[in-house]
Amino acid sequence: MSSAIYYSFILFSGLVAAQQKCDTYTVPNVAGGFRSRQFIDFSTAKAGQDAQQLLSNNGLVISDWDVSDGPIAHTFTPKNVALVDGAVALRVSAYPGTGNSIGAEFVTTAEFKYASVRTVQKSSNVPGVCEGNFFFKNDYAEIDFEILTSSISNDTECVPAGIWATTQPLAPGETKKSEIYPFTFDPRADFHEYRIDWTPGLTQFYIDGKKMGNITENIPTVSGPWMWNAWSNGDPCWSAGPPTKESTTLIRSIEIIKDYSTTVTGNVCPK
Ligand SMILES: *[C@@H]1O[C@H](CO)[C@@H](O)[C@H](O)[C@H]1NC(C)=O
Ligand SMILES: *[C@@H]1O[C@H](CO)[C@@H](O)[C@H](O)[C@H]1NC(C)=O
Repeated sequence: MSSAIYYSFILFSGLVAAQQKCDTYTVPNVAGGFRSRQFIDFSTAKAGQDAQQLLSNNGLVISDWDVSDGPIAHTFTPKNVALVDGAVALRVSAYPGTGNSIGAEFVTTAEFKYASVRTVQKSSNVPGVCEGNFFFKNDYAEIDFEILTSSISNDTECVPAGIWATTQPLAPGETKKSEIYPFTFDPRADFHEYRIDWTPGLTQFYIDGKKMGNITENIPTVSGPWMWNAWSNGDPCWSAGPPTKESTTLIRSIEIIKDYSTTVTGNVCPK
């Protein structure tokens, strides 16, 4: 083969490979696979662009509601979700000493059952905030990966340090199951990928592609949306706070691999 023909052959096969559709995305330690993948990229966002528009183009809706549990009621307010250069910011306002604590949240419009959801996030350096990345259908179908900015590296009186992995009870009277993974890095210093692989009977938790642990209790079996938020309710044994300075949590990208199948067929893309 002449080199010109050889190179055009390589180019042509590359083009075909790039365009080939994935029928199944496989994930390590997951039996079966997933049929669809969505990548939401905030890395090219610019400060001041319309967050509502960009999120809605990607199937995400910004929350606007009040939550009244805990010592201080809190509110999820659309204006506390904003685009900055290279990320979407979830803000918790500096608490003025009275009224609700004001936080931020967005949610997928799609509801799904089983997924591998990967959030590339940089934590706030302001104490007193809970940063959540979670599946939530209702109080009896919830899987959480949560960072508490008051207990990132040091225990508080009633909160051991680390990132919290939790499955909430599936019925009233049952108990939730939590694991706490100590940080081996400072999550406020840079972006890291926090991943939940939710499959039948098993939830596995990863950071930067490294498996931290798994939970087999309370695994939801219903479809629901995924949520990302930052908030404070002043509970000394959870979020602590509310923060006295404005807190900013940054999310650079979100990958949602869903439509679970027990069988692996067609063109397979390992993820
Ligand atoms: C956290 O604990 C370390 C020692 O383990 C200490 O050096 C550091 O000052 C503590 N940080 C805070 C914010 O208390
Ligand atoms: C879940 O983690 C435990 C250790 O905590 C391990 O023994 C078990 O093999 C894991 N299960 C799965 C399905 O990964």
